[in-house]
Amino acid sequence: MAIKSILVIGAGTMGNGIAQTAAVSGYDVTMMDVAKEPLEGGQSAIAKSVEKLAEKERITAEQKQAALKIKGVTDLKSAGGVDLVIEAATENPELKFKLFKELDGLAKPGTILASNTSSISLTKLAAATSRPEKVIGMHFFNPVPLMSLLEIVRGLGTAEETVQVALQVGKQMGKTAVVVKDSPGFVSNRVLCPMINEAIYALDEGVSDAEGIDTVMKLGMAHPMGPLTLADLIGLDVVLYVMEVLQRDLGDDKYRPAPLLRRMVDAGYLGRKSGRGFYTYS
Ligand code: CAA
Repeated sequence: MAIKSILVIGAGTMGNGIAQTAAVSGYDVTMMDVAKEPLEGGQSAIAKSVEKLAEKERITAEQKQAALKIKGVTDLKSAGGVDLVIEAATENPELKFKLFKELDGLAKPGTILASNTSSISLTKLAAATSRPEKVIGMHFFNPVPLMSLLEIVRGLGTAEETVQVALQVGKQMGKTAVVVKDSPGFVSNRVLCPMINEAIYALDEGVSDAEGIDTVMKLGMAHPMGPLTLADLIGLDVVLYVMEVLQRDLGDDKYRPAPLLRRMVDAGYLGRKSGRGFYTYS
């Protein structure tokens, strides 16, 4: 099945990044959010990003135009006219189960329903629909236009044909895909979030300050960003949620969220998006 049209749900950082990358890769893209404001925010982030990429000649003028033409909608009806839906809404299980149920009712029987979830079970999301064979995880990384990985998550009922289509879409979007089993945190967050969590324990115990911890990991391990800077980029609420999923679903207290992480989320210090996390942002 050749994919031509894509509906991306959510105009936030991940949604607008996915929509932009899909549009510059030749897909006919529609982006949906619940209200005009977030939609306009997403469109303006796309405009800024493609401006930069075109300046650096990483995309052509035509590709930039394609991204600027992404259609914005505030309801789910367009799901009925597309080949692929990529859901990148807020990481809230209740919201995602409800969305998948609704999408299943609106989309054509052949349409693939993908989720960019970083921690919710694809098998569970698929069970909210009547088409588990057409439900799959397409997990992108922030910032989507720059990060080359696509983690494809195969739910228990995902058909091989659906995996092949997702691989083809990933390839056309210029990503290197890795297919993984539906397991808590998949591979990416199973490995990444415990590292970040440990860095937060080290900070809380005064082993070093935030700059010290990040510098050790940047210069000693050649990570492009230290774990605390990265936590601020991802969002501390997301890191906490992933740790809770790992602890609960793998049943092992080695995944216990650092108390400081929990306190910071309680205080509303969520990282870049709230202006304050381990660092402050203007
Ligand atoms: N579009 C276009 N340009 C962008 C951009 C975007 N969305 N985001 C950043 N840039 C630009 C910057 O503005 C900058 O431009 P200038 O050089 O003109 O100022 C340029 O890209 C490079 O940025 P930096 O100077 O910060 O250089 P960098 O080499 O450090 O690259 C980076 C930036 C690619 C983000 C790099 O720091 C990196 O790889 N960081 C790690 C990111 C990471 O791990 N992401 C995964 C998070 S986990 C996740 O997303 C999934 C999950 O489930 C939690």
